[in-house]
Amino acid sequence: MVELRPSSDFDALRRLGVEAGLEPGVAPGVEALAGWTAIDRDRTVGGVMLERLDDRMLVGWLWVDRELRRRGLGGRLVETVVAEARRRGAAALWAVARVPAVFLRHGFEPVAEGPERDRLLGTCLACPQRGATCRPMPVVRRLA
Ligand SMILES: CC(C)(COP(=O)(O)OP(=O)(O)OC[C@H]1O[C@@H](n2cnc3c(N)ncnc32)[C@H](O)[C@@H]1OP(=O)(O)O)[C@@H](O)C(=O)NCCC(=O)NCCS
Repeated sequence: MVELRPSSDFDALRRLGVEAGLEPGVAPGVEALAGWTAIDRDRTVGGVMLERLDDRMLVGWLWVDRELRRRGLGGRLVETVVAEARRRGAAALWAVARVPAVFLRHGFEPVAEGPERDRLLGTCLACPQRGATCRPMPVVRRLA
């Protein structure tokens, strides 16, 4: 059974995400609030963070070990962030999804065109993966 453990070592969480293929660097204005690792018999096999951008809470740095994908672990990590965002009183939880299907499966919806979407995509503007290996989709789940 894979266990999810809270972690406040945000640098390590980001480093693991980069090793899993995520783009390095923290987008301007994004602040880390909380994090979790997924542990399988002492091996770290996944991670995720709760972040803040302006007054929004975001899911960030989501990854799962290649060998363990498509077994629900990514969804468990997302739901862990949802629970923490709720606990902190958020009315909504946002993400800029590289793999939107995981989020859509968990109650998130695409963000309609407009300033909110542009603000979220703004975190990707300088990213070399954008449009090449990554087509990010801003998504939101209402928590109220
Ligand atoms: C995205 C990621 C975290 C998903 O983790 P996971 O453990 O495979 O996710 P789950 O098993 O909970 O998937 C839940 C649902 O999302 C969808 N899904 C997951 N990965 C998918 C993919 N690559 N393509 C299409 N749909 C996908 C499926 O509907 C899946 O349910 P199903 O397997 O019953 O069909 C994992 O693929 C990963 O680490 N990718 C590389 C890092 C990355 O891009 N992270 C950013 C994510 S926004």
